[in-house]
Amino acid sequence: MFKVAVLTVSDSAARGQRADASGDAIQEVIAAAGGEVVARSTVPDERDQIAAFLRRWCDDQEVDLVLTTGGTGLGLRDVTPEATMDVAERLVPGLAEAMRAQTLTKTPMAMLSRQVAAVRGRSLVVNLPGSPAAVRECLAVVLPVLPHALELLHQPHVEHHPRRGAGLHPRQE
Ligand code: MTE
Repeated sequence: MFKVAVLTVSDSAARGQRADASGDAIQEVIAAAGGEVVARSTVPDERDQIAAFLRRWCDDQEVDLVLTTGGTGLGLRDVTPEATMDVAERLVPGLAEAMRAQTLTKTPMAMLSRQVAAVRGRSLVVNLPGSPAAVRECLAVVLPVLPHALELLHQPHVEHHPRRGAGLHPRQE
C-alpha cells in the first residue's frame, strides 16, 4: 500500500468555482491500484504555493507519491512544472516522455503538456494535465512502473552498477 498525496492546481477550483473532477479521477484510479490517498488539496496557479505543498508532503509527511493535476500547459499562469522543478532533487524525464508519447495516440493535444516528474528525498512527484480524461490516460501509462519506482526510492543506498575496475569487471587498461 503506497501513500499518495493529490494536489489539484487550478485558480477556479481553488476559488470553489468548479468541482475538482480531476482530483476525484486520481483518487479513484489510485484506490483501484491499491494505493492510499492520505492528503488532498487544491491550490491556485501560484508557483510558491504549489512548491510549499510539495515540500510539506515530501519532507514532513513523507508520502511515497505526489500526483499534481493541472497547470502544465502554455497558459501564462501555468506554472506547475516550474514549481515542481523548484523542489526537485532529480528529474525523471522518462515518465513524462512516456505519458506524452503514449497518449499522443489518443489526442495530439498531449504535446501541449509540459508535465515533469521528479524525485525529492524518497518521494516521487508526477505532474498530470488538468482534465479527468488526461489524468486517466496518463496514469494508465505510468501505473505499471510505479511500484518498482517507489520500491527503488525506499532501498538503502546500494551501488547497482559497480564502478569499472572493481569486482567482477576489472578495467582493461
Ligand atoms: N494529455 C492527455 N493524455 N489527454 C489530454 O486530453 N490534454 C492536453 C494536454 N495533455 C490532454 C493531455 C491539453 S488540451 C493541454 S492544454 C495540456 O495537457 C495542458 O493541460 P493543463 O494546463 O490542464 O495541465
